[in-house]
Amino acid sequence: MPATLMIPYAQPSFFGAEEAYLVEAFRSTWISGGAFVDRFEEDFRRYCGTRYAVTASNGTTALHMAYLALGIKHGDEVIVPGFGFLAAANIALHVGARAVCAEVDPDTWCMTAREIEPCISPRTRLIVPVHTYGNVCDMDPILSLARHYRIAVVEDAAEAFPSRYRGRLAGTMGALGTYSFQATKTITTGEGGMVVTEDSRLHDTMSLYRNHGMRTRRYWHEVAGHNFRMTNLQAAIGCAQLEHVERIVSERKRVQALYADRFLNADGITPQRVSPDVDATLWSCAVTLDPLAFPQGRDAVISQLAEAGIETRPGFYAASLIGIYEAPPQPICAAISRQVISLPTYPSLSDDHVALVCDRITSLRK
Ligand SMILES: Cc1ncc(COP(=O)(O)O)c(C=O)c1O
Repeated sequence: MPATLMIPYAQPSFFGAEEAYLVEAFRSTWISGGAFVDRFEEDFRRYCGTRYAVTASNGTTALHMAYLALGIKHGDEVIVPGFGFLAAANIALHVGARAVCAEVDPDTWCMTAREIEPCISPRTRLIVPVHTYGNVCDMDPILSLARHYRIAVVEDAAEAFPSRYRGRLAGTMGALGTYSFQATKTITTGEGGMVVTEDSRLHDTMSLYRNHGMRTRRYWHEVAGHNFRMTNLQAAIGCAQLEHVERIVSERKRVQALYADRFLNADGITPQRVSPDVDATLWSCAVTLDPLAFPQGRDAVISQLAEAGIETRPGFYAASLIGIYEAPPQPICAAISRQVISLPTYPSLSDDHVALVCDRITSLRK
């Protein structure tokens, strides 16, 4: 690999008061809980326009809190997409439920009501649309299907803050919406997560589970709780990130527009389709590589790009390819899984470097 060029897959951008707030939290000696946690919840809640926002230690524990608040348990079924990051499926298994994997749309790579309906059974308690790569699922038909069958919806918006669907923020349309602030995400706290909801009962139950099942009576465990808490240090970074989220978003949109422009009508390279209903802030710009145009295969392309100093990632493994979910064969998920390559996407990525990534990929086409 040449020492001169290294374009990483992701890089956080600290344009504002991140360091100052972090030092302030540190010097306050409040390094577990503290004022920044309350402030981050309030700022995030206000940004999303929801009644409640509950911080979590990461996006996976945010999902766990959401499932516990809804009482998802052994014997229940949770519908998740068969392609996407599989935290929603894993948490279903953790609470003793079955993850029922639905096919996804071949163009948007997201689950739709059409793929969800055949997965519904009398045991279905929850549908978890995952807004993969920052795209947003076609939510209105999913919400009306869920209403019709009286099934709860938790949106996994870990990759989709602050994308919008018909004007509504990803994560604010279901009973609960979860987010991740891991280092590669659009806003980051290092590790961290959030759940938003309008429902005071769900909010109270999540708060209970987050803190060992204890309320005000110290050491009295009302339920078998966890420690899902975010630290004050993490929240301090989150407050600063949220203050300049618009700049982060506009830089990401610059990058995604450059990729979209270069790959529009490119032979053998197809970007994820984003519907006109969606105003996406992509976590990751991703494309499928047609095996006819790239006979060496997606994984060989990833290696060839790495040799040129460009870090990319393969698509997620389809759930049907991984034994633990017992998912039936899902040809669309499997094909996307084999063909997707996700590309460097972050605010400080220069126009020249985007062009270079695009040039390299097209030069590898046979
Ligand atoms: C869609 C999705 N859900 C959940 C998670 C889990 O989030 P975290 O890594 O913060 O636990 C991720 C991954 O980062 C994700 O991409």
